[in-house]
Amino acid sequence: MTYRVLISDPLSEDGIFPLREAKQIEVEMITDLSPEQLVEKIADYDALLVRSQTKVTREIIAAGRKLKIIGRAGVGVDNIDLEAATEHGVIVVNAPDGNTNSAAEHTIAMLMALARKIPQAYYALKQQKWDRKSHVGVELKGKTLGVVGLGRIGREVALRAKGQRMKVIAFDPFLTTEKADQLGIIKGSIDQVIEVADFLTLHTPLLKETKHLIDATAIAKMKPGVQIINCARGGIIDEEALYQAIKLGKVAGAALDVFEQEPATNHKLLELPEVIATPHLGASTVEAQESVAIDVSHDVVRLLTGDLVRNPVNLPSVPKDVMKKIEPYFYLAEKIGMILSHLTTEVIEEINLSYSGELHDVEVGPLTRNAIKGLLKCHFGDHINDVNAAYLAEQQGLVINELITSHAEGFVNLIKAEIKTKSGSKVVAGTLLRGIGPRIVQVESYNVDLVPEGHIIFIRHTDQPGVIGKVGSMLAENHINIATMQVGRSNIGGAAIMLITVDVAVTDQDLTGLTDVEEILEVVALEL
Ligand code: NAD
Ligand code: MLT
Repeated sequence: MTYRVLISDPLSEDGIFPLREAKQIEVEMITDLSPEQLVEKIADYDALLVRSQTKVTREIIAAGRKLKIIGRAGVGVDNIDLEAATEHGVIVVNAPDGNTNSAAEHTIAMLMALARKIPQAYYALKQQKWDRKSHVGVELKGKTLGVVGLGRIGREVALRAKGQRMKVIAFDPFLTTEKADQLGIIKGSIDQVIEVADFLTLHTPLLKETKHLIDATAIAKMKPGVQIINCARGGIIDEEALYQAIKLGKVAGAALDVFEQEPATNHKLLELPEVIATPHLGASTVEAQESVAIDVSHDVVRLLTGDLVRNPVNLPSVPKDVMKKIEPYFYLAEKIGMILSHLTTEVIEEINLSYSGELHDVEVGPLTRNAIKGLLKCHFGDHINDVNAAYLAEQQGLVINELITSHAEGFVNLIKAEIKTKSGSKVVAGTLLRGIGPRIVQVESYNVDLVPEGHIIFIRHTDQPGVIGKVGSMLAENHINIATMQVGRSNIGGAAIMLITVDVAVTDQDLTGLTDVEEILEVVALEL
């Protein structure tokens, strides 16, 4: 099997080396494709790698019938329709750390260039004007830098600004007073930050909540003469409001690396002498480009070779040590879901998953996703995966509850799932036996010991002498060899079940004879 990877924005050749050297992966870098060309091409590829130029729209994702992963060589994923990717089960990965340093250094470069009007002075000199009066700047020392968004880049900027002997005040919903103290900065509310800043720098992602965070109302609260730097995302600033504020002299200057619409070659902000700008160069260093391309290439190789990715964006990321603990249970959780899906023909309204014993203190989200995958596989086939399992369940109106307990009913670990339909509920439970493997230990109210794999016939019957014999002979008549058989019953002569593992897949025709047996109430073929 050969996987094909399309790189549609220029990426560092050294950075994509992990992809080039991977066996069974073919890489093509075709940049400058129009959206229409990309829609046409994408159907042949398993992976798409982009920077920020390519807009990965719903249409492109829908056309990517084989698409499994979209890699963003950088941080911001606002050029990718994440909702569409999740719905189509396409995992999106990014490279969150690779360009932090470069973006922070670029921000500081912009801050200093803005304070000392370096681009304006350089431009005048290039025009042969020796103009010292118009380019008087201000010192950074003693000034207050307001940082909005104290994530990876915001933190690095804050530390560097302290090196310039600036006071730093920051707002981030996740910033604690302890963290601020550790960094030697002040924690403020958004209003406190924008009200006291001499220089304001933005480092949030572009989200619904941060769109036009800096608008006319916010600017009205700022100090007269404030200078603003945006090396995060265009759209965080309302550009019209900034333009007006500069025109009115409220904002003394702005340094912009990013714009709401890019490329922004003809922007009216660029006509203002108070505005200095770069064409989205925050991450444009040799080091950052190599680093983000390496990170994202590794994740693409990992996914295409069946390994777990490190930087998923549309899937909660689980720390490596936790993943090591829960990964062995993935198979068991999925098989429990699959068995349950076979045990009812009704609409499943709710699933209650309980995790106990050794599982009581681990992150169980990935196990739930696997159980849901198994449960809904009969509807969605291979289209359902870890990425879209929760979304597809929600679309089906399935209510999912998780319960974590330490009581594992005598087992070291236990996953128990109960599904509810209009007419009642069904339970399947399983455990992972150390050194042996997964076992199903309960089906409905019966205790069993079943290896959840292969071809299994589930029979519900009345406990009467001769039923087992009839089943055995009927299967033999159809040349079906029994590997294992388990019988469970509620009481003598009462309700009972059989779980028969056979060597070959059984057809509906093989099963019709069984349903004709008087004591047999239900026969289901489980393909695990
Ligand atoms: P990050 O995820 O590490 O940090 C973002 C921070 O913003 C988080 O701490 C988050 O809590 C905070 N935040 C979210 N909503 C907020 C709000 N309403 N108010 C205040 N804070 C809020 O991301 P990062 O790697 O530091 O990147 C920051 C930004 O820089 C992103 O927009 C990214 O796309 C952009 N970026 C630009 C370039 C460039 O070339 N110009 C390069 C790299 C990153
Ligand atoms: C990013 O989000 O990483 C930056 O915008 C850098 C880029 O890829 O251009």
